[in-house]
Amino acid sequence: MNASAHIGITGLAVMGRNLARNFARHGYTVAVHNRTPSRTRTLMQEFGHEGTFVPADTAQEFVAALQRPRRLMIMVQAGAATDAVIDEFAPLLDDGDMIIDGGNAHFADTRRREADLRERGIHFVGAGVSGGEEGALHGPSIMVGGSKEAYAVLGSMFETISAHVGGEACSTHVGSDGAGHFVKMVHNGIEYADMQLIAEAYDLLRQVAGYSPAEIGEIFRTWNTGRLESYLVEITAEVLSHTDPGTGKPFVDVVADAAGQKGTGRWTVQSALDLASPVTAIAQATFARAASGQAALRTAYRPLPGGMRIPEAERFTSQVEQALYASKVIAYDQGFTMIQDAALAYGWDIDLAAVAGIWRGGCIIRAAFLDRIRAAHAADLRLVSLLTEPGFAREITEAQVPWREVVAAAVRRGVPTPAFAASLSYYDTLRADRLPAALLQGQRDYFGSHTYRRTDRQGAFHTHWAHPDRPETQI
Ligand code: ATR
Repeated sequence: MNASAHIGITGLAVMGRNLARNFARHGYTVAVHNRTPSRTRTLMQEFGHEGTFVPADTAQEFVAALQRPRRLMIMVQAGAATDAVIDEFAPLLDDGDMIIDGGNAHFADTRRREADLRERGIHFVGAGVSGGEEGALHGPSIMVGGSKEAYAVLGSMFETISAHVGGEACSTHVGSDGAGHFVKMVHNGIEYADMQLIAEAYDLLRQVAGYSPAEIGEIFRTWNTGRLESYLVEITAEVLSHTDPGTGKPFVDVVADAAGQKGTGRWTVQSALDLASPVTAIAQATFARAASGQAALRTAYRPLPGGMRIPEAERFTSQVEQALYASKVIAYDQGFTMIQDAALAYGWDIDLAAVAGIWRGGCIIRAAFLDRIRAAHAADLRLVSLLTEPGFAREITEAQVPWREVVAAAVRRGVPTPAFAASLSYYDTLRADRLPAALLQGQRDYFGSHTYRRTDRQGAFHTHWAHPDRPETQI
């Protein structure tokens, strides 16, 4: 077979098929392969006219169709299938060839696979592809890991097919080995927090201010013309304005209120625990989905009383906007901090401004304020938090009283706002002059002789709690 293909894609379910079409529509010759050949045939029949495809039924034919160094992209179900496909293709490849995993792999798996394949002379590139099936076809946001050498060969292809914002491609090399899949995972964690915050804002406007779903849709539409401008706020307005054709009721009222998840939010929280990264808004958003599915618990709690009603709808609405914005800044800041913590732990050199840059288009959390996040990180490469940047600091300062009033109103009324409250608590925790962690240290020393440090002297100390005089010794 003539080795003419710039890239090969194996795994032609929705994501793989759409990425293959995207490459072909941009003039690349794309070899296509699937475990079950009928999918390859369907792709050729339905979309073969969109560009130059080289269909292959066998692994050997597929590999033979690729130009060298070979670029072989895997788009199969993450997990065991990815390992199976790597085991099938790696023996057919040569030194310097590349396997790209564009699936939703766990970054730890990507690190393992990269190390294994590096020993065999093959570049393994874990690439986080965001934007769902539409993004895959029309331009996703692509977070690429693996070696710099591999990106030098692949990068321009990804940049060509990615989304573009203001002429800039939403694809970059974020760091080595598993960094791409890690950043994609945190992206999804932030997405969970953003969606939950928007959902809480809706619930408050409905339950506390008394607006109808359609009215709240209008409020979101207005907010989407300001600093909250984002894809998620835009689609929320659409969903809220929708009336169920069968019943004539607001669509949100006919949808079961148990939220699903595919697991990337959970991964973010699990990894955050390993890294001691306090991504509390993401964690609360993940737990909120879990709680929504606890049918038996909800039945047990439902008869218990709620709180009191609080009027003044209009003033409250503007307070909710402030609270949503402030909480959102915190949630994004937590995600960026977690990426920084991981970069330190796993030896990645991640440019946070570039990450914010590629999230501006193609992906679910695309939002106007990512421009400002990018600028803040570009202006200060050691930026510890967005809240130290003067613009964000000013906005949070203005928002903090309404933010507190909204959370207080939610508590008084009995509307659950786990992500709003977690964001505000995070702000207050990190802002506090003194934390009760000092008391925790006292407790730990009391029961476990874990020792403590003092504010006035260097060294570790232990108090002999069992002794009537409670003498202190320096360890
Ligand atoms: P989607 O893009 O729709 O989310 P997915 O569930 O992530 O799809 O992945 C499905 C793809 O993985 C299919 O191409 C499937 O191949 P088949 O069409 O033959 O079922 C592929 N896949 C799953 N397990 C596989 C395995 N062990 N080896 C090879 N391909 C596999």
